[in-house]
Amino acid sequence: MQVKEEDITIIGRVLCDPKRDLPSRFRALFTLRNIGGSKAISQINNCFNDSSALLKHECAFCLGQMQDQDAIPVLISTHATKSELPNYLSSNSLLEDENQEPIVRHEAGEALGAIGVHSEELLSLLQKYCNHPIREIADTCHLAVNRIQWLKTHGAKENLSNNPFNSIDPAPPCKEDNVSKLYSILTNADEDLFNRYRAMFSLRNMATDKSVKALAAALDVEGALIKHEIAYVLGQMQHQAAVESLTKHLQDSTEHAMVRHECAEALGSIATEACFELLRKYISDSEPLVRESCIVALDMCEYEQNHDFQYANTLTNLKESTV
Ligand SMILES: [Fe+2]
Ligand SMILES: [Fe+2]
Repeated sequence: MQVKEEDITIIGRVLCDPKRDLPSRFRALFTLRNIGGSKAISQINNCFNDSSALLKHECAFCLGQMQDQDAIPVLISTHATKSELPNYLSSNSLLEDENQEPIVRHEAGEALGAIGVHSEELLSLLQKYCNHPIREIADTCHLAVNRIQWLKTHGAKENLSNNPFNSIDPAPPCKEDNVSKLYSILTNADEDLFNRYRAMFSLRNMATDKSVKALAAALDVEGALIKHEIAYVLGQMQHQAAVESLTKHLQDSTEHAMVRHECAEALGSIATEACFELLRKYISDSEPLVRESCIVALDMCEYEQNHDFQYANTLTNLKESTV
């Protein structure tokens, strides 16, 4: 997309302005993601000292989805001294920065896997974090290492199902196409996490009633990371058969905030009247990740119900001079 540099700067200002409402800032972020290129990346990078972990994790997610190597210096950098670091980092990279929330560091690790560059430096950093005490970070790095190695050894050679959702996933689908077998791989805690993810994405790509139901049932597995990803793919599928299970996990206040966040956003994408009502109820949840997700999800619900405008619309608004 060809966009003037000053427009990218203005959209970046919307993204980074803490006085703006969160839905506008999210729309600005997705507008920048769609624009792409190094200018858009540097505007997204300016947001990593924000107080919202939700917004920052989405920024890291978008950097991965853009698959632009210009994003790598933020996700992993080789700054020699602290004084050379950009002001939003207190450590060498988002992944390593202990001042960033685990959900942000997880998304930084996942983004490195999504960009998928096979470099020894990158792989050794990710491998180091495969044993991190925060399980979501360790598991994410395990997946990222596996994805990068899989791309190198198999990549285009494997004939696998297509992803109808245009996302860059943390794992490819697998060759299996039997729903019951895929469900057993996905829910088997003894199976390697990368293979469980592959089963999940195969079920997602099938996009049948049966495969949605299998994924919805699998939300009861153990482990915040895999659960949040199941909730995410259910949001992509936008199938009403998932509402009950997503509702149950959003309502459970003992559930990991990362899972509740992803359930809220998935419900926002499914956007039935019942989803609307539930999201309104959790808009004042005590957990910021959940509360903010419900605010953003309600905006997505409105978008889904009025298909006459674009979600990532900050550029259009800019042209109408309302920004
Ligand atoms: Fe995530
Ligand atoms: Fe998320």
